[in-house]
Amino acid sequence: MTTSDRHAPELVLRAQQAASEVGAPYVERTHKRPLASMLADTADALIVMEAEAVSLVDAEGSLRFSPGLAHLRVKQLDAGVHEDMLLRVSGLREGERVLDCTLGLAADAQVAARLVGPSGAVTALEKSSALYLLVRYGLETLPRHPLACPIQAVYADASEYLRTLPDGAFDVVLFDPMFERQRKSSVAFQTLRRYADYAPLTRETVAEAQRVARRAVVIKGSRYSSDFKKLGLQPEPARPNATVLWARLPGFAGSPPPEARIR
Ligand SMILES: C[S@@+](CC[C@H](N)C(=O)[O-])C[C@H]1O[C@@H](n2cnc3c(N)ncnc32)[C@H](O)[C@@H]1O
Repeated sequence: MTTSDRHAPELVLRAQQAASEVGAPYVERTHKRPLASMLADTADALIVMEAEAVSLVDAEGSLRFSPGLAHLRVKQLDAGVHEDMLLRVSGLREGERVLDCTLGLAADAQVAARLVGPSGAVTALEKSSALYLLVRYGLETLPRHPLACPIQAVYADASEYLRTLPDGAFDVVLFDPMFERQRKSSVAFQTLRRYADYAPLTRETVAEAQRVARRAVVIKGSRYSSDFKKLGLQPEPARPNATVLWARLPGFAGSPPPEARIR
């Protein structure tokens, strides 16, 4: 964890606190020290905190956190278009509580935050320390949508976290695990891949999620992987060319059919 080379003392303090959250070292950035030299001597990867941006930098490139595709998806919702698959499959509505077990670059979490609105809540878990820092602090650099709730990012393993929760603690639990077979992807996703946790989702974790979800568990999977089959999941109907499939399982209190009710 480090900062931009022109940094205020508050930024340093913030970067130090962020590093200690995940037990990563904080490396001081002296004036004009290039990141390349820090990568050569000090670290394989750096999270660089600036006043208005957060980036993950390694020998292969740099990823500055941005809303990504969520920007477009939220815009569509704002325009009253209710085609988003997360909405269609989960039926998320205002005021609901969502547990996103796989934060990643937070695209789904941002859409979920917009769907549940300011009276709802989104908690999102990330097991990779690099991705957690990038996204937890990156999210804070984005302007808050007036019709979205804040996203509470937590550095945790989903299976362990779920075990600590009471029955029905959330309305909807979401999983978007890394697929075993990957296809061509954006630069952002390629960076995510280098740091993501690949442990496959297990039947035990899905069952635990069904206990924690009051209404439904939603799982994303790739058409090109056998992950759904291994978990015994039947995907929801999708367009023939869809590469991402979605499945829904009932939660603790059953899963009434989704009903879009957002502002
Ligand atoms: C495919 S990405 C999720 C993308 C995300 N839905 C989005 O919209 O940006 C999967 C993410 O889940 C994380 N992950 C995988 N297994 C996890 C676990 N057991 N607990 C917490 N995070 C996990 C990976 O490190 C990775 O960042």
